[in-house]
Amino acid sequence: MDKARRKFTLGAGLVVGSVCVGAYLFDTQYSRRDAPITLRFSHVAADNTPKGRAANFLSEMVSRKTGGEVHIAVYPNSTLYKDGEELEALQLGTVDIIAPSMSKLASLGFSGFEVFDLPYLFEDYDALHKVTEGPIGATLLQSLGRANVMGMAFWDNGFKQMSATRPLREVSDFSGLRMRIQPSRILGRQMRLLGADAIDMALADVKDALLAKLIDGCENPASNFDTQGLSPLQPYLTVSNHGYLGNALMFNQESWRQLPRRLTRVIQESIGEATRYANQIARAENEAALQRIEEAGHTTVLTLSARQTLAWKQALAPIYSEIQDPEVARLAAKVRSSIF
Ligand code: LMR
Repeated sequence: MDKARRKFTLGAGLVVGSVCVGAYLFDTQYSRRDAPITLRFSHVAADNTPKGRAANFLSEMVSRKTGGEVHIAVYPNSTLYKDGEELEALQLGTVDIIAPSMSKLASLGFSGFEVFDLPYLFEDYDALHKVTEGPIGATLLQSLGRANVMGMAFWDNGFKQMSATRPLREVSDFSGLRMRIQPSRILGRQMRLLGADAIDMALADVKDALLAKLIDGCENPASNFDTQGLSPLQPYLTVSNHGYLGNALMFNQESWRQLPRRLTRVIQESIGEATRYANQIARAENEAALQRIEEAGHTTVLTLSARQTLAWKQALAPIYSEIQDPEVARLAAKVRSSIF
């Protein structure tokens, strides 16, 4: 969306939002009598992924803790909105909760989140959690307030693997491949440094694009690869763990503000529990998905030697010196030198 349209949409959203909020408040202050209050949670991943499970966990937790007063209706798998549409829907209040992958936030004006796309930045989940659970993470979540949304938490998916129609071991194996990416400058550059073309599209369109041979490969944690049914179309998957993919849980500001404090307190508590749950299960979910991929027999799972991993890292290293955005450069430097 261009800037002018985004501004218009945001403005229109605010007007429509205010009118609705006014009417709603006039009509009915939330009270126990009006239960249940329904909050709509839209996301693009399948139910049996770390994000899908955490969304359902949050919904159950909130129902239980509010005695059914608040119901979070979860719409998984792009059934309501695809990834390009989610944030706008949240701003307009047509959904109340989303948890997009952070790779989608930079192109919407939140460039700091791009730091999570940098290849080989995080050694492991512990290194990552120093960022997401520390002051850097808190500042990033707070910055989402600029879009009339509330950043609530980070939910891990996990480390990404590369898949394609040909085996990817050496950097030269990427030459000429059309690789699907999420809308991120860093991810585009990453694919180009490896010698591939980068094609940006919604997750919901990846399977059809592979079927139509519009793309040759993609990257994602194993849980998304498996649950999007990509195995039969991708004969090779390389366990590269070359980058991270995580989600930012966000609420529509007006939906949140309309809730009485006693309910926001309970929902906040439930978000804390759902976040711990999401971040506990992510690794095991991806390991189980990788095992399912291997057992299904469509996709040969490849591992890289130390030499091959080093060659991928060397090919991707220039991305760090090319970072244009000062906030991303500052955050990347902090993460790399572990200064928190
Ligand atoms: C994607 O590839 O677009 C996904 O990883 C997004 C998601 O939300 O998991």
